[in-house]
Amino acid sequence: MISKETIAKVFETARVEEVIGDFVNLKKSGSNFKGLSPFTDERSPSFMVSPVKQIWKDFSSGKGGSAVSFIMEHEHFTYPEAIKYLAKKYNIEVEETEQTDEQKEQANERESMYLVSEYARDYFHKTLLQTEQGKAIGLSYFKERGFTDETIEKFELGYNLDQWDAFTGEALRKGYKLEFLEKTGLSIVKEEKQFDRFKGRVMFPIHSMSGRVLGFGGRILDSSKKAAKYLNSPESDIYHKSKVLYGIYYAKQAIAKEDNCYLVEGYTDVIQMHQSGIENVVSSSGTALTADQIRLVNRLTKNITVLFDGDAAGERAAIRGIDLILEQGMNVKVCSFPEGEDPDSFARKHSRDEILDYFKENAQDFIQFKANLLVKEAAGDPVKKAGTVRDMVESISKIPDAIKQEIYIQECARIMDISENVLYNTLAQILNKNRKESSKKAPIKATGEMSVVANEAVSRSEKINVLYELERKLIEALLLYGHKEEDFEDLVMTEDDHGNVKLEPVVHTSKVFEKIYLDLQDDEVEFTNDLFKTLYAKIVERLHADPNFQVQNFINELAPEEASEISNIILNDEKYELHRWDTREVYVRKKDTSISQFVSETVLSLRKYLITQKIKDLMEQTQNSSENNDIIKDILDYQSLNTLLGNKLGRVLSV
Ligand code: CTP
Ligand code: MN
Repeated sequence: MISKETIAKVFETARVEEVIGDFVNLKKSGSNFKGLSPFTDERSPSFMVSPVKQIWKDFSSGKGGSAVSFIMEHEHFTYPEAIKYLAKKYNIEVEETEQTDEQKEQANERESMYLVSEYARDYFHKTLLQTEQGKAIGLSYFKERGFTDETIEKFELGYNLDQWDAFTGEALRKGYKLEFLEKTGLSIVKEEKQFDRFKGRVMFPIHSMSGRVLGFGGRILDSSKKAAKYLNSPESDIYHKSKVLYGIYYAKQAIAKEDNCYLVEGYTDVIQMHQSGIENVVSSSGTALTADQIRLVNRLTKNITVLFDGDAAGERAAIRGIDLILEQGMNVKVCSFPEGEDPDSFARKHSRDEILDYFKENAQDFIQFKANLLVKEAAGDPVKKAGTVRDMVESISKIPDAIKQEIYIQECARIMDISENVLYNTLAQILNKNRKESSKKAPIKATGEMSVVANEAVSRSEKINVLYELERKLIEALLLYGHKEEDFEDLVMTEDDHGNVKLEPVVHTSKVFEKIYLDLQDDEVEFTNDLFKTLYAKIVERLHADPNFQVQNFINELAPEEASEISNIILNDEKYELHRWDTREVYVRKKDTSISQFVSETVLSLRKYLITQKIKDLMEQTQNSSENNDIIKDILDYQSLNTLLGNKLGRVLSV
């Protein structure tokens, strides 16, 4: 784990505008910066950075948060990766804690393996561009394949000399340890001798999601040799083949932005498509697709399009992948190429628009794809048809979402001309069998149940909107004015000598957060929105503990969705400024209202709203029951409280 001190130092040092400035062209706008959203394709800026509050907000995608959460969103880093990225940017040394000596050694070992791999990448790249053999053999090969200098640079392509130990010897002379050269598989050690794994091959570095070099693929150039066309780094502590997708580092942003990922078979397919301007492409590099690889994509989009060579082997590979993708709740399309073409050759011959048009016309939903296979293979053969139908339903059974399942069953019935009932029965059989096999899996909800829930949600929506606004305003008040001392007026009920009840205004001074906390506690008010509820608890706790509470420090301790909500709330006003929507401003109070008025009004409105609801509920109960006396007494109590709150609210609003 990264030490608390390191994290604190990163938070202290990192400036949100500097961090984001590396990715987004920011222009000053009042006290803020604005720019084009890096998460959507937009023409007019709706991306905002507040240097004062140290937060950002993207009004087009709804995302927002701190410097750390920006890096997590934009680079698709985990939290520790983001901290390390920022530490590197600001030259902060990363301290790791709570590691046993053994763990430390392992971490150091992995780091050494990364370093040696990065050295190898640089060495191979230089050999390609600067040695006679590299240029004559490696570079001319890449040129022949149509790769531009820019592409070669971007993918850090390389070449290793056709000698026994050109690389290993140089690395050892540079001080890299043989231990790590061997552990990464770059060098092979036999007794006293050591030599290069990759000889006379062009080199493709394989990167992690965050851009570190994990291993290599090396392609042989001399087809007369019997050696395998591609040689890859062996599994190691840093290279787990089943968890890596070639090209993911270069593709991740485009995948998120296009909300789709193309899956191809080879290194050159990825590179050629990139060069044609289609960047949301990754490859499983010849191995069968794994669930872990799909998970990498699932973090970025729910949509995968499998592209496969127009031959039988390609088709089989595509079919294998489909069910795995469906299992993760993702949508799969498949697209094949004309006979004899693969994505590499196709992309080389066509422009970006032509390629995209081709995909648009030829990509099929998996169900359509499987159906077409049947038409090809088994026209008129009822046994084969039955097998394919079962196969299709088998795929449908992998989809976790019951509604989607239903849609696909209907689609399948239509295409195969079979009654939906038969298909539902088959589906039920398969599901039953699966359930028995893995009784741990949660049973799939019947669709009937789901529709009931949906209806209830609709009828509740109006209530949720009002509460949502009020709860949100309270959080805003806590964040912006939590520690401010304000004069609050309260109405206290008193009786005069003649027994008449009177309301007397009493002014008392208190901190905003104490006022809110105590008032809500009075009525045992709980927030209805789960996120607000958590935030409310956390904010109040922090305000209690820390007299120097500052939003920009606090936000760094939160989970990404919490941080995003906070920047949502705080930058809400800015949104109106940004879109010049002042005329539509309904909820946002003018800045000249006093803080105490804003707080009192919001608390009272919330309490009054909840009590009015309570009274309504009780009234309904009286209609369904004959024993009403207790309920009616409750109603009267609540009504007098409601009147009192109304009086208070009236006074606040009339100031
Ligand atoms: N592959 C491999 N080992 C092999 C053959 C293939 O690892 N002996 C992997 C590589 O990642 C390769 C992918 O499988 O990119 C697809 O194989 P293939 O279609 O044969 O290669 P292409 O990418 O088409 O390579 P090229 O165009 O250079 O022949
Ligand atoms: Mn090829």
